Amino acid sequence: MQNIEDICKDLLARIALSDNPRDLLKVPELKQLYGAIKTMPPEERGDYGKQVNELRTTLDSAIVKRESDLENATVEPLDITAPWDINSQPLGLLPTETGAQHPLTLELENVIDIFTRMGFDAVESRQIDDDEHMFGTLNFPENHPARDGYDTFRTEEGFIPPAHTSTMQNRILKAGKSKLEAGGQIAAVSYGRVFRNEDVDATHEHTFYQCEGVFVSRDATLGQMLGTLRSFFETYYGQKLEVKTQPGYFPFTEPSLEFLIEKPEALGGKAEEWLEMLGCGMIHPNVLAAADIDPNVYRGFAWGGGIERLVMLKYGIEDLRHFESGKLKFLRKFA
Ligand code: DAH
Repeated sequence: MQNIEDICKDLLARIALSDNPRDLLKVPELKQLYGAIKTMPPEERGDYGKQVNELRTTLDSAIVKRESDLENATVEPLDITAPWDINSQPLGLLPTETGAQHPLTLELENVIDIFTRMGFDAVESRQIDDDEHMFGTLNFPENHPARDGYDTFRTEEGFIPPAHTSTMQNRILKAGKSKLEAGGQIAAVSYGRVFRNEDVDATHEHTFYQCEGVFVSRDATLGQMLGTLRSFFETYYGQKLEVKTQPGYFPFTEPSLEFLIEKPEALGGKAEEWLEMLGCGMIHPNVLAAADIDPNVYRGFAWGGGIERLVMLKYGIEDLRHFESGKLKFLRKFA
C-alpha cells in the first residue's frame, strides 16, 4: 500500500487540474486506506485513523478551493462577428469571375463532344461498382491472373471503385439490345473516374479518367473501328496523324489491339516516335452473350483509354500529378 503522504501529494495535484475535483474522493487508493483501519492492531488504529482524517480534511479544503476557482474562472468570449461591415464592404474573397473549369473537365467535354457528333451516346461511368461488372461480364474467369493486372481497390463490403470504364460495357450492351432488335446499332461512349492501387509517379496516378467506346451492329468490322479512332484523334489534335496498331491482350476482346499514333511534329515529336493511346478490339462473344446479345448474329468493337495522356500530349504537360495537385499555378494556365 502507498503511504499516506504520497497519496495526499498525488491527489492534491490531480484536484488542482480536475474539472470535477469531488470525484477524486472516490479513487481506490482512498478506499484502501479506509479499509485498512479494520484490519489494524487496535493499538495502531488511533494514530492511523487520525492521519487518515487529516488527509480527508486536506483533500476537502483543496476540493472546495478548486470548485470555487472553477466557478470564478472567466472565459474570454469569442468574437464571432465579421471583422468588417458586411453590408457596406464587398467580401473580396475568390470572386467567381476568376474561377474556371479544371483542364480535365474541359478536355473530357471536348472528347465527349467529338464522339457525340460522330453519333455516339455518352454515359458517365460509376465510381463504385462490383466484381461482376469489373470482371465477370467482361470474360475474366474466376481467379484468372488477368484480374491481377488491374490493381483494383476493394471495400470491406466487396465493392470495387472501378479500375477501368469497361465496367460500363455490360450496362451499355443490355440497354442497347432493343435497338439492335429494331434493326439499329449500339454506339455509346462511357467516361469517368477510375481508380487503381498504383504507386504514384510522373506517369501513374491512383485516380484518373478514361473514356470507353462500344459499337455493335450486324456487320461491325475492325476497319470501321480503326477509321473511327483515327477520325477521333485527328479531330482532337486538329491535324492529320499517322496511326498503327500492335497486338495486345484483353480478355474482353478478340482480337485485342493497342492503338498508337505517331507523335506529331507540331507537338514536339520526332519521326517514328510512336505513342500508345488506348486498348481496343472486337468484342469477345462471351461479353455479348453476358448481355444476352447473340454473338452469332451481332458483332461489335470496343476501345478504352486514359484522358490524361491525351491532354498531356496536347499541352506538353510533363507530369501527370499536376492534374490532381490543385495547384493554382498549373490550373490558371487553362483558365
Ligand atoms: N479497359 C482497358 C484498360 O483499362 C482498355 C480497353 C481495352 C478497353 C480494350 C476496351 C477494349 O474497351 O476493347 O486497360
